[in-house]
Parts: sequence; C-alpha cells; structure tokens
Amino acid sequence: MTYKWNKIVKVSALQLILLLFSCKKESETAITIPTSEKISVDSTVYYKEPFRPQFHFSPEKHWMNDPNGMVYYKGIYHLFYQYYPNDIVWGPMHWGHATSTDLIHWKHKKIALFPDKLGLIFSGSAVIDINNTSGLGTKENPPMVAIFTYHNMDIEKAGKINTQSQGLAYSLDEGETWKKYDGNPIIKNPELKDFRDPKVFWNETTKEWDLVLVAGDRAQFYTSKNLTDWKLQSEFGKNTGAHGGVWECPDIFKLKVEGSKEEKWVLLISINPGAPNGGSGTQYFIGDYDGKTFKTNQKDIKWIDYGTDNYAGVTYNNTPDSKRIFIGWMSNWLYARNTPTKNWRSAMTLPREISLSKINGDYTLKSTPIEQFKQQLVTEYSKDLISIKKGTKIDFTYDYLNQSSIRFNSKNQNLKLVFSNDLNDSLVIDYYSKQKIFSIDRKHSGFVDFEKTFAKDIHKTSVSNLVSVAIDYQIILDWSSIEIFINGGVYSFTEQLFPKKPYTKLSIQSDENQEITNLTINKIKGIWQK
Ligand code: FRU
Repeated sequence: MTYKWNKIVKVSALQLILLLFSCKKESETAITIPTSEKISVDSTVYYKEPFRPQFHFSPEKHWMNDPNGMVYYKGIYHLFYQYYPNDIVWGPMHWGHATSTDLIHWKHKKIALFPDKLGLIFSGSAVIDINNTSGLGTKENPPMVAIFTYHNMDIEKAGKINTQSQGLAYSLDEGETWKKYDGNPIIKNPELKDFRDPKVFWNETTKEWDLVLVAGDRAQFYTSKNLTDWKLQSEFGKNTGAHGGVWECPDIFKLKVEGSKEEKWVLLISINPGAPNGGSGTQYFIGDYDGKTFKTNQKDIKWIDYGTDNYAGVTYNNTPDSKRIFIGWMSNWLYARNTPTKNWRSAMTLPREISLSKINGDYTLKSTPIEQFKQQLVTEYSKDLISIKKGTKIDFTYDYLNQSSIRFNSKNQNLKLVFSNDLNDSLVIDYYSKQKIFSIDRKHSGFVDFEKTFAKDIHKTSVSNLVSVAIDYQIILDWSSIEIFINGGVYSFTEQLFPKKPYTKLSIQSDENQEITNLTINKIKGIWQK
C-alpha cells in the first residue's frame, strides 16, 4: 500500500513537474500573435497579385529598373524610373513617373519621356532651375530640367561604340508634360562605349551646376552655368574602388559627420557585375570635392547595402530639409528579367535616409527607412525581455509576417532567425558573433529556380563594425522582399524573395544564452488603393 502510494505520489510529482515544465515551455517558446486579417493574394484585385509589394513602390504594370530624376518641388516628391511600357522584360527605355507628398503613398502619372530619334531614354536626374539659368522657363515659372542619357540603337546596330550621349528635357508644368531641348545632345559621346547616367545638382558653394556621369571604369565631373553648356573638369576612379564590372548610376553629395562639425562628400557608384554577393551592387567613397575634383584616401571597398537587391540607387535633389533620401532599384541584373511576377517586374527599396558616421575612425554610411515610414506601423506584439537559453528557440506564429516590421535588440552573440510557412519554405538569417559574419540563406525561401544564381550561395558578409555590446535589428518584410537594418543602418541587407505562400512562422534561436529585448512586431499598412 505504502509502496503503491509512494509510487502514485512519485508519478504525480513527476507528471506535475512535466506539466509545469511543458506549460512554462508553452508560454516561453511558442507565441501566437493574433491578427485581424490574413495577407490576401488575389490576381483580380488591385495590387494584390502574388508577390506584389504592399508598401514599396512598383509600377502598375510592365518593366521597371533604375530610379531616375528624383526631385522635390512644391510639396511633391517626383520619382521617375526606367520603364518599358510594352513588356515585363527590359526593352526600349522611357521614363515612367510617379509622385508622392510623403514618399510613402504614390500616385502613378503619365509616362514622362519617350524615346526619340536620338535614342532611348536611359538613366539620369532632374533639378529645379530656380533662377532660370537655362532660359527654358521664366523666373516666375522655373523649369524642371531632366538630364538623361540617350542610347542610340542605330549607332549600336552599325557596330559603333559611340551610342551614348547626354540629353536634356524640361517641364514648365511641374513634371506633367515635357519638351526635349532643341540643342540635344548637350554632352556628346567622346568615343566611349559606356558613357551615361548623369547626376546633376546645384553646388551652393561654387554657385554652379555640377554633373557627375560614368565613363566605363571611372566617373567624370562637369560644371555648367546654364545646364546646357558643360565643361569636363576631372575624372575619378580608374585605379580606385571595385572594378568587377562597368560603373553605372553615380551620385555625389555632402554630409555632416554625425556628432561633429566635419563635412565630407559621398560618391555613390553602382557596378555591375562585381557586387559582394554577386551581380549588381553599389559602392561608395568618402572624400572631398571642391566643385571640380573628387579625392579620397579610402583604401577599402565600401558598399551601401550588402544584400543582393539594391542597385542603381541615388538620392533626391532639392529636398525641403537637409535630409539625404535614397531610393534604389530592388533587383539585380543577374535575374531581374526572370523573377516570377506576372504583369509587372521589380520594385524600389523603401526610401532611406542616408547619414554619415565615424566608427572606429572609419567613415561609414548608414541607411534607415525614412522617419515617416513609422506612420505605417501598427504594433501587434511587444515584449521587453525574452531569454533564449543556449540551444533553445522561440517560435512565433503570425499570419502577417510578409507585411511586417520586426525590431529588437540582442546581445552581441550568435543569433538565428528562421522565417517559414507550412509549405516548408524557409529563409534563414544568421549572425555569428565571433567570426563577425552575417548571413542570409534564401536557398529554400520559396520559388528560387527561375534563374540559377538566385539561390546558389548563402550570402555571407563580414560585419567587422559590429562591436557594440547589444545589436539592434530592424527587419522589414514585404510580400517579395526583406530589408534588414543593423545598428541603425550601419549594415543593411536588401533581398528579394518569392515564398510560395506568405511566411507565418518566425523562429528565433541561438546556440548561446541570448536575450531579446524591446521586441516589437508591427503590421505594416498597405499603400495601394485604386
Ligand atoms: C543601370 C543601367 C544604367 C542605364 C539603365 C538602362 O541599371 O544599366 O546604367 O542607364 O540601366 O536601363
């Protein structure tokens, strides 16, 4: 009897412990976040087709690549872009056009620039000629001036190299309608095969217009008094920086170094191929520019984004405050033409604010989503502290992951994040603190075999600047992209993904004792309504 009783007590105690343990486990390791909605996917509904970004800019239909002519005027941000209106693959280039009052919600506009007898309309920039230096408008109604590259197919077909020259167009009605300049091209081809992508800006110090373009393996700097007559001043880069591919889409601007009075110039150069994780990418140089010549002491190669899908990005001209706003094309020439979308191709990155800081004596560009993006966030879950014991994990179930922002701090120790769905698609993100390696594995993230390089390798980045005790992660997932900002954008990673169904599970794991603090999971409000 005693024996039996003892046994019962022992068994019940064991059961109780097990029960308590499993309850504890339940509450600590599996968390379901209720949502009022599921992500809806429906080809017949406006902007609800499979993979359609819900809060990134994408064209209603057809092909898009680089952002062009980004300029702010009279309360409106203009976004022009490389556009082919007849197909979802690259073709004769036009400038598409969209506008926004907040850089979050966009209005589609008519096509701004069409190819003409001088050529297709490749990438370029736009300014507001406020003093009417060009004489193309009046002081009362200053012209919006676009300077772009003409690419001439007849010259290309004739087997000659001088296909590209720079052209000008202007608008006297705030970008609604455009006229090409009679004196085009304004910068003729100097017998170079690659000669393109002019970025023009007003130089406050020299009171001149400055222009930077790329000429194969280098940048060229020009100046002008009137936007139509340009003088070549200098070249930069033949023996500096990354040269794994042709230089494209330059930009140059001045930034204050955070926390100091120092100012430096930043030169962005996109290159294709030759990016750290394959194909297209954007490098940057920090240096000095006197309105004629750019110089740098920089020895290493720096990239604005270490993911595979942030290319040809440039910044806004004429913004109302001193903020530097950047938008990139969220794709890669390796597979841009093959991604599995149906009636449109490609999206832009979120608009990002670019700032400059010095970390360990090293100038570093940081990029974070613009401030007003916060308005789009709806908090669905938050928790001050979650401990993850060595070798354990926390699994969240949340139906809205593919339209969410996840932000938290962790100790500067190993961390693994796995996003998945019930079709076994999974996206794996790892941080290895001792090796200082950050990796993104999209090999099993969903549809991947539309092109052989898309999921060939795990994307690994050396993150030597992650020396802080805690790490701040911000992860933004849309239907077909992920953007990761580490430590306020000291490192950013942008990648496309094509999950077969939206991800509904997030597992946070570590093989070390980890602590997740200030975790917030937000739903991101969609921006598209007809
Ligand atoms: C960059 C780029 C530019 C060019 C444009 C053509 O992606 O190759 O150099 O102007 O695309 O669409």
